[in-house]
Amino acid sequence: MDKFAIIGGNRLNGAVDISGAKNAVLPMMASALLTAGETVINNTPNLKDTRTFIDLLGILGVSHRFDNSKLSLNAENIISFEAPYELVKTMRASFYVMGPLLGRFGEARVSLPGGCAWGPRPVDYHLSGFEKMGAKIELSSGYIHASCDRLKGADIHFDIPSVGATANILMAASLAQGVTKISNAAMEPHIVQLCQMLQLMGSHIEGIGTSDLIIHGVDELAPIEVSVIPDMIEAGTFLIAGAALGDITLNNVDPSHLSIVIESLQMAGCQIETAQNSIHIKKCSNIKPVDILTDVHPGFPTDLQAQWVALMSIANGSSKVTDNIYHDRFSHVPELNRLGAKISIDKNSARIKGVSKLVGAEVMSTDIRASASLVIASLIAEGKSTISRVYHIDRGYEKIERKFKKLGANINRITD
Ligand code: UD1
Repeated sequence: MDKFAIIGGNRLNGAVDISGAKNAVLPMMASALLTAGETVINNTPNLKDTRTFIDLLGILGVSHRFDNSKLSLNAENIISFEAPYELVKTMRASFYVMGPLLGRFGEARVSLPGGCAWGPRPVDYHLSGFEKMGAKIELSSGYIHASCDRLKGADIHFDIPSVGATANILMAASLAQGVTKISNAAMEPHIVQLCQMLQLMGSHIEGIGTSDLIIHGVDELAPIEVSVIPDMIEAGTFLIAGAALGDITLNNVDPSHLSIVIESLQMAGCQIETAQNSIHIKKCSNIKPVDILTDVHPGFPTDLQAQWVALMSIANGSSKVTDNIYHDRFSHVPELNRLGAKISIDKNSARIKGVSKLVGAEVMSTDIRASASLVIASLIAEGKSTISRVYHIDRGYEKIERKFKKLGANINRITD
């Protein structure tokens, strides 16, 4: 298992290119299953999760080519409808194959995802949505078997705007008979991108970018070529590192996806300039404490909560960071405390007492974003830190150590 060795304290300078968004590309890859031709997805990040999804699609019979960031997927010869446990357990987003398989073939067998490092993550909204659309859902031996003749349009309401369930139902509804309405749908930029992709393929969707989506199903969808939006979470991670250490410019980024993060950084005292596709941030000379509350888009993303906690650990005062989406998502806190942070957990909030410095230590990654927070904290900390289990970060960040190194950080990968 690889580790990162980091010697903290270096200023970050220069420019960094943001990759395509992980959370956008995965449902886009699943959408290739909806059509019998070749789907081309440009700006695909070369991540562990992308490669896992390619493997999963391969098991189903999808052939692929992946050159640089151009991914071609051909779902003409599907040979299986089953997403096996071995892959689903490593990546919950594997569940995304259920909607398109059910929509195009009327059958899917997908291993039920278990919990994750930060608690239970149910898929009941996905399943009750498919059921409303006429699918028969059975659970046996840890697998969900869904089947139908052809899905039918339905009215579906989510109590919480789930990203995954919105994407899965969108894909299924595109090939359903009739009209599907999703109310309280997720509005994240990657959901907007998925809607736009499905439209290009021939589906007709009203209300894109709002919480009420109306999908007019069609009999067939056509293969297309698309390009993945920039990863707002990778961009937010570099912005937060820049706030503590840098004078850096992020290229290939969409500032409109990051409004609340930029606002929060400005409240913390950072100077930020935005242009159409870039953001420039200068280190805050005196980081002010800023409370945040994670929420669905356009609220502060839960996927940047851990990184924000790392920044607030060296703020000039106390702050409170509350996660409203995943109440137990605080596995980074004990590790940050090993680096000298003073953070305690109170229900779904982290209470952070800013300290004047962090000091290097051995720490352990527990999930993708917690790892990113440990990288930021280790870059800030005096002396040497070692972060183990960085396979978590490789799931969602493309060559993160090379990007930080190019900005001047002292970070190296140690391969066992
Ligand atoms: C996606 C992202 C993840 C991000 C999360 C929230 C991908 C691949 N992953 O995960 O990085 O942290 O959105 O922005 O895009 N819920 C239910 N029942 C369901 C589905 C969800 O109760 O069937 C609840 C969840 O427990 C959670 C909330 O809804 O409290 C939001 O979850 P959801 O948006 O579905 O997250 P994911 O799509 O799994």
